[in-house]
Amino acid sequence: MSIMTITGKHKEENWGISSSAYQIEGGWNADGKGPSIWDTFTQTTDSIPDSANGNVACDSYNRLNEDLYMLRALRVKSYRFSLSWSRIFPDGTRKSLNQKGVDYYNRLIDGLIAYNIEPMVTLYHWDLPEALQKVSGWENAAMIDIFNDYCDFCFATFGDRVKFWITINQPQTIAWSGYGLGNMPPNVVDPGYRPYIVAHNLIKAHAKAYHTYDDKYRQVQGGLISIALNADWFEPADVNVVREVVTADRAMQFQLGWFAHPIFKNGDYPDALKWQVGNKSEIQGLPQSRLPSFTEEEKNFIKGTADVFCVNHYTTRVVSYLTAELQPHSYEWDRDLRETDEPDSPTTAIPNQKAVAWGLRRLLNWIKEEYGDPEIYITENGAAVEWDDFERVMFYKAYIDEALKAYDLDGVRLQGYTATAFMDSFEWLHGYKFLFGLHHVDFTNPDRPRTPKYGLSQSQTHPPSTHTHILFSNSIAVYFTPQTVCEQLNK
Ligand code: BGC
Repeated sequence: MSIMTITGKHKEENWGISSSAYQIEGGWNADGKGPSIWDTFTQTTDSIPDSANGNVACDSYNRLNEDLYMLRALRVKSYRFSLSWSRIFPDGTRKSLNQKGVDYYNRLIDGLIAYNIEPMVTLYHWDLPEALQKVSGWENAAMIDIFNDYCDFCFATFGDRVKFWITINQPQTIAWSGYGLGNMPPNVVDPGYRPYIVAHNLIKAHAKAYHTYDDKYRQVQGGLISIALNADWFEPADVNVVREVVTADRAMQFQLGWFAHPIFKNGDYPDALKWQVGNKSEIQGLPQSRLPSFTEEEKNFIKGTADVFCVNHYTTRVVSYLTAELQPHSYEWDRDLRETDEPDSPTTAIPNQKAVAWGLRRLLNWIKEEYGDPEIYITENGAAVEWDDFERVMFYKAYIDEALKAYDLDGVRLQGYTATAFMDSFEWLHGYKFLFGLHHVDFTNPDRPRTPKYGLSQSQTHPPSTHTHILFSNSIAVYFTPQTVCEQLNK
C-alpha cells in the first residue's frame, strides 16, 4: 500500500518534535541554575569529540522566542522538551527553589499554548542535579522521595497547562550506560550489580510520581502520565530456529521488558530476567540473585503506572544465541546473546544505528501483543546523517510509512509520533559530531543562528516543506517525485 492512500486519516493524531534541556538550553549556570552531572562530566572529561559540552549548546535559554517561532513554522501539534531539574531546584530539593528557572519554563509553556502546540514534558532527561549525585544518586533509595517531591512541585506549578507528562527518559540508558558501562555520568563501571539496583530505584521512583499525579492532580488537571522507554527491535538471526526466536525475545525483555514488564504487566520483572540473572548468580556462587526483587506490596504499587506506552526507537539489531562467559558479572552477559548489524539496511552516521524501518513495525506489533494493546506514542525517532539532509527525509518517510502500516494494517493503537530532533543539539557522548536536527545550528556563531535544513526548505514551487508535510499530513509531499529523488541521489 502506498503511503498516499493512507494519508488524511491521521490528521488529529499527535505529530511532534523533540528536544531535551541539557542538549539545547545552554545557560548552564545562568540565573542561579545549579550544576547537573552532565555539566560536571562534560567540563572534565576528554572522552567527547572536540571536548564539547552543553555550556551554551543552542542557547535556547536565551533564545526562547526563536524556538517558539520555529515550532510554529513547523506546524507541529506537540513539542516534547524536558525540564532541567537543577534549573528549578539548584540543589535538587525544594528548599533551593530558583524562581527564574520556573519563569523560563512558564514562558515556554505559555508560548506553546498560545500557538496551540501541546507541551509534552519530560521531568527527567538524564541531567541529575550534581548535589544529588553527591549522595549517591540513583543508587540511593532516598532518591525515590526526592524525585517525587520535584515531580509534585512541577505538577502543581505547570500542570494547569501541561497535560502530557513523562517521568523519566530511557531508564535503561541511565542504568546501563551510567552505572554499568560507565561511559555516561555518573560514570560508575559496575556491569553486574548496580544497573539492577539503579533500575529498581528508577522504577519505584516512576511509580511514586505516577501515584502522586493520580492521587493529587489528575482529577483537576486531567492530564496523562507515562515514562519514555528505549527499545531497539531485536530480529532473530534465523526465524526458523526456535532457540534464535527465543533469544531475540530475551533481548527485548532485557532492554524494554526490564521496565515495561513491571509497569505495564504485573509489577514484576520478566521471567527471562529473573531466570537468567538468578541462574547465572547461582552458578557464579553468589548467595542471591544480582537482580533485586519487589515485595508484593511494591508490585501492586508499580503495576499499571502508565496511562499510555511511550517508546523511543532508533534502530534494529540482529541477535543470535551465545552461551556467554560467567566472568565478569555483567547485565550484558546475563542475556546470553550476540548482537550484530542488520546487514541489508542503509547506514546512518552513527555506527550500530542502521536505518531499518521495518523494525519499527515489528516493534510496535510486539508491544501491542506483549502489553495488551496499549495506546502507543513514539516519543523519539530520528537519525544522524553525515551530510545530506535528503537521507534524513528518506529516513522519516520510510519509518513513518512503517508506523502507519502498523496503525492501519495491524491495528496497533498508535496515537502519536515525535521526530528527533527539533534542531542540531549536543548529542551526549557524540558532542556535536553526529546531529539529528531538522534545523541546522551554527555552533561557531555566538548567536547560534538556526537554519531549516533541506527537508524544511520552502519555496514557491515546493510548499509546504517536506518535513512539515511528513509530520503534518503524515505523507511524503506529492512534489517529491521519483525524478527529484534521482536528482538528489545523483548530486
Ligand atoms: C536520547 C536523545 C538523543 C538521541 C540521539 C536518545 O537515546 O534520548 O536525547 O538525542 O538518543 O542521540
